[in-house]
Amino acid sequence: MPIDKQTFRRVLGSFAAGVTVVTTLGEDGQPYGLTATAFTSVSLEPPLVLVCVDKRSESHVHCHASKVFAVNFLSRDQEDLSRRFAVSGGDKFGDLPTHRSATGAPLLHGSAGYVDCCAINVIDAGDHTVFIGQVESADCSDAPPLLYFRGAYGEVKPKA
Ligand SMILES: Cc1cc2nc3c(=O)[nH]c(=O)nc-3n(C[C@H](O)[C@H](O)[C@H](O)COP(=O)(O)O)c2cc1C
Repeated sequence: MPIDKQTFRRVLGSFAAGVTVVTTLGEDGQPYGLTATAFTSVSLEPPLVLVCVDKRSESHVHCHASKVFAVNFLSRDQEDLSRRFAVSGGDKFGDLPTHRSATGAPLLHGSAGYVDCCAINVIDAGDHTVFIGQVESADCSDAPPLLYFRGAYGEVKPKA
């Protein structure tokens, strides 16, 4: 018998995760994106990562169509962006400083790092879709990361 939804949510919330904003370029030429913690590295050779995107999200439509996405690793100072991109629909980019990656997906300035990907595999998985992306470009900064744990934001405590 599968686990009940409430328990499942509570247990998953106990897994501390880095916060990302997954962005893509819509076929209408507009940028789209959502806050996501369901991100992981998959393979070093070739360089692969994955993100899991809710089928009901607006970004899903555009990731599915464009087959390109960038995963922006939010920095400690970007909690406001996490909240902004966790609201569905509307123009989330507005006055936000961004630039286009090699694939065309927007990169957010001030992030802790990013991977820019072409989706090589799109897997149907329950109410989400798993996008496995080949990494075309990547970079990181010295900015400390933003974490999410049990419904609250946090940061990495540097080792003494
Ligand atoms: C901390 C946090 C983590 C989230 N992680 C994911 C995720 O991994 N995948 C996902 O599809 N949605 C995730 N969400 C929810 C989306 O950000 C939210 O549904 C968003 O409104 C979708 O925007 P869109 O409909 O404009 O694409 C997360 C939200 C928060 C606050």
